Amino acid sequence: MSEVVFEGITKRFGEVTAVDRLTLEVRNEEFMVLLGPSGCGKTTALRMVAGLETITEGTLRIGDRVVNDVEAKDRNVSMVFQSYALYPHMTVARNIESPLVARKFAVNGGPPRKLHKAERQARIDEAARTLGLTELLGRKPAALSGGQRQRVALARAIVSRPAAFLMDEPLSNLDAKLRAQTRLELVDLHERLATTFLYVTHDQVEAMTMATRIAILNDGRLQQVGPPQAVYERPHNLFVARFIGSPPMNTIEGTFVIDAGEAFVDLGAGRFRVADVGGEPVAHDTRVVVGVRPEHLVIGGGAGAVEATVVAVEWLGHERHVVCELAGSHVTIREPSEGAGPKAGERVRLGVEGANAVHLFDPATTERLN
Ligand SMILES: Nc1ncnc2c1ncn2[C@@H]1O[C@H](COP(=O)(O)OP(=O)(O)OP(=O)(O)O)[C@@H](O)[C@H]1O
Ligand SMILES: [Mg+2]
Repeated sequence: MSEVVFEGITKRFGEVTAVDRLTLEVRNEEFMVLLGPSGCGKTTALRMVAGLETITEGTLRIGDRVVNDVEAKDRNVSMVFQSYALYPHMTVARNIESPLVARKFAVNGGPPRKLHKAERQARIDEAARTLGLTELLGRKPAALSGGQRQRVALARAIVSRPAAFLMDEPLSNLDAKLRAQTRLELVDLHERLATTFLYVTHDQVEAMTMATRIAILNDGRLQQVGPPQAVYERPHNLFVARFIGSPPMNTIEGTFVIDAGEAFVDLGAGRFRVADVGGEPVAHDTRVVVGVRPEHLVIGGGAGAVEATVVAVEWLGHERHVVCELAGSHVTIREPSEGAGPKAGERVRLGVEGANAVHLFDPATTERLN
């Protein structure tokens, strides 16, 4: 049980800067998810914590220890890999035991020593019970399903009772249904173990559903850190705004104007009335990128609505996505599948509804303005 602290951590591979001055505090017992697109540096960040990659610059702490020069085996962290990396010739029991064989452990505050066979067995049994593997201890990995192998990899990570768990896309080899189930199991495991989790994924659904806090990376740089809902409701820049949310946030260039005391965004072909801008006041006549989530755009808006043409309608059963052309861009509206709904080619009026539904970004810096 420890916090993991990155202080200005940089990792360069020759010319490539994989992680760029990352400062991030993973709190004790938190479920922190590192989220970002492929190649943004997630695995590299995790491998530096595990001690599998050297650190080019900066300070890394686990608990109150600076670990930059501490060997991987002495860091007291466990890593679960995407591939699981189980030993094929060993039984489930021996796979789970493997981290206990090589290392020394401090038992009841005593000096580190090798565990006795009975102590190892007790830990194997406990880990197997925790992950529902008791019946499978005698099998070899080839005789397990993907989900069972994944649980063996988790069991192997917990036997050494590490200060922090590091997981690199551990669900990506599972099918959609098993992934959804395993997400719930991981949240439950995190609660029962009461240990720090640092979890890497490019899947925003995993991040949103499991994380205490999300850290979003792009190009090796930290973009935003916060609880899932806070990041969704107040993205700090255009990258985060477009990365979190499905379908993604609509973003349109325009000008913010104040007319007779009321706020609008002028899109050239018309204006949206902005009932509640929220946050910092924005000056009249500011060039902006307007962000509106698909669920905050409504068809049939009255005054202060913009004319648009329906391009396509996607039916998803419980909801539909209406794609419209608006001032030369495509925007998506998300609405319940009630009634007949609009048809392609139809002219409609679009309005914005909801508190803090309008996000304004600086077109040059891409930073949030309101
Ligand atoms: N050993 C290495 N040598 C050279 N470049 C590397 C090495 N490992 C990673 N990189 C580069 O560093 C950057 C970050 O890679 P990393 O594997 O951390 O990304 P990632 O966010 O985990 O991506 P993915 O989602 O695809 O797993 C990439 O540009 C990658 O090509
Ligand atoms: Mg990776």
